[in-house]
Amino acid sequence: MKTTNLIIEGFRKYNRVNLVDWLQILEECKANVKRQTASLLKASIKQPQPDLGVGAGGDPIKQIDLTAEKAIMETLLGKGLSFTLISEESGIKRYGSEPDQAYITVDPIDGSTNLTRGIPFYATSIAVSTNPKLQAVHTALVADLFHDVTYTAVKGMGAKRNNQEIRPSKEVDLAEAVIGVDLNTYKVREIAPRITSLIERTKHIRHLGANALELCYVADGTIDAFIDIRGKLRATDTAAAWLIIKEAGATITTPEGKPLNAKLDPTEKLSFVASANRKIHKIILNLLKA
Ligand code: IPD
Ligand code: CA
Repeated sequence: MKTTNLIIEGFRKYNRVNLVDWLQILEECKANVKRQTASLLKASIKQPQPDLGVGAGGDPIKQIDLTAEKAIMETLLGKGLSFTLISEESGIKRYGSEPDQAYITVDPIDGSTNLTRGIPFYATSIAVSTNPKLQAVHTALVADLFHDVTYTAVKGMGAKRNNQEIRPSKEVDLAEAVIGVDLNTYKVREIAPRITSLIERTKHIRHLGANALELCYVADGTIDAFIDIRGKLRATDTAAAWLIIKEAGATITTPEGKPLNAKLDPTEKLSFVASANRKIHKIILNLLKA
């Protein structure tokens, strides 16, 4: 293709992508998830879950995961959009004539064990990016379905909780800080020695069971840090909250202090430390043993 044609095609693509109000579409996806899961939420809580196989992310699929994913897909396809879906449940699927126009990374239900045990802490997480990489995420939504709280972010425009701008905490004292740590792994013997020095200096350690939402709690100052160094959290669970953390002005890096990079793929796993501010982040990183 000639250079001028390439420029024109690039310009057209830029316009098509930017004419889409992704935040509005993600809000509509959330509303549809809420509508379609409402009866199931009441019915399925504390009921034995039928075996529906294993999702693309490697965990057993529950009916509620499928219903939430279907609601998201119905909304997206109803808009006639071209996009590539990257979902924890159904994997990578391409839709429309130009599926590379947008990548939509979805964890239909984050915290599904909480949900099925009646613990009121679970979320729907959706991120939109220009390519299948974490750093390319430009619009994000994490919706706490039980408490009706929605976190959103658009690149360069800040992060919000129910449409009100959010900021992380200024806490720098580990003894006062509330710190989330996900130790949910059979390999806890490998993790424990790395995290002991930090835990020894804290009084308020938590793990609430839905990591996307726990990251949003760092973004809005509810907690002061959230640490997941298991190397088993999927990129699909992290994509939306990553942008919300960044846009709120909090910090998220690898446990070694490097920028977080990941392929957006249901099989991609990552480790991170997310903190309210740079000062407490540095203190935490120094206490984590490699
Ligand atoms: C899970 C939650 C949980 C974490 C697990 C994740 P899911 O997400 O985020 O807090 O400990 O590793 O798999 O499976 O409910 O989407
Ligand atoms: Ca999930």
